[in-house]
Amino acid sequence: MTKVALVTGAGRGIGRACALTLAGKGFDIALVDLLAPEMTKTADDIRRLGVRALTFQADVSSFTRAHEIVDAVVSDRGRLDVLVNNAGAPSPKPIIEISEEEFDRAIAVNLKSCFNYIHAAAPVFLNQAEGGRIVSISSLNALSGGVTSAVSKHAYAAAKAGILGLTRSLAKELGPKVAVNAVCPGIIATELLRDMISRREEDLVSGIALGRVGTPEDVASIVSYLATDAHMFITGQHFVVDGFQWKC
Ligand SMILES: NC(=O)c1ccc[n+]([C@@H]2O[C@H](COP(=O)([O-])OP(=O)(O)OC[C@H]3O[C@@H](n4cnc5c(N)ncnc54)[C@H](O)[C@@H]3O)[C@@H](O)[C@H]2O)c1
Repeated sequence: MTKVALVTGAGRGIGRACALTLAGKGFDIALVDLLAPEMTKTADDIRRLGVRALTFQADVSSFTRAHEIVDAVVSDRGRLDVLVNNAGAPSPKPIIEISEEEFDRAIAVNLKSCFNYIHAAAPVFLNQAEGGRIVSISSLNALSGGVTSAVSKHAYAAAKAGILGLTRSLAKELGPKVAVNAVCPGIIATELLRDMISRREEDLVSGIALGRVGTPEDVASIVSYLATDAHMFITGQHFVVDGFQWKC
């Protein structure tokens, strides 16, 4: 029986690393992303590892699309074992500039997206003997608040903090069959932060105890652990992956 993982935002960055890491552990992967070329490249790289890759171009803020995609995955592969809610996008405007529509969009892409895919996947997990695993990518910003130099401010931080409430609550509601956890990355070198890191790397690294910014693989390794370890006794938790970023 080949297990199946669905990863949102799998085209590039942290989502791509999560998808490739899970593929390396033998999972078939369903990829969801807005960016078709990036997703096609990740899917080709996954297939080279000898597993199946299904691609779905979609905006994760759509509840209907989330249900269509989960239904399509289950009808194609017969099951779904892991959901990685990774897709997210910055919301850099300060409170005096942001519009109501922009705030709503930040919540839709960064928080409601998780609800959409969990709502679709939870019945599948609850109805199969092996249950399921959910890992959602929050952010250090959920704990520290967005900082003035960051690409994201209050709306992003609020959405990412919402993921932590969703995680704790759903761990109770969906246990014992489903483990629900979140990961809070610090500064990770992806397209999202490329400009900021290239402008300020020395300054940023001076506030990180482990002396470097993170890589997508740093995040993927804990996501993969939470998604796959057979003896894991952890749910309703969040894990900070930031090299101890004491200056935020
Ligand atoms: N890079 C960091 O330092 C960092 C830190 C904390 C949290 N995060 C979170 O990690 C996750 C991944 O970030 P990343 O750095 O890899 O970013 P990224 O921009 O490199 O990749 C994000 C991927 O998600 C996709 N995506 C964005 N909005 C989407 C939407 N509405 N529908 C479908 N797909 C969408 C993008 O097309 C892209 O492929 C995000 O949730 C982000 O908030 C990143």
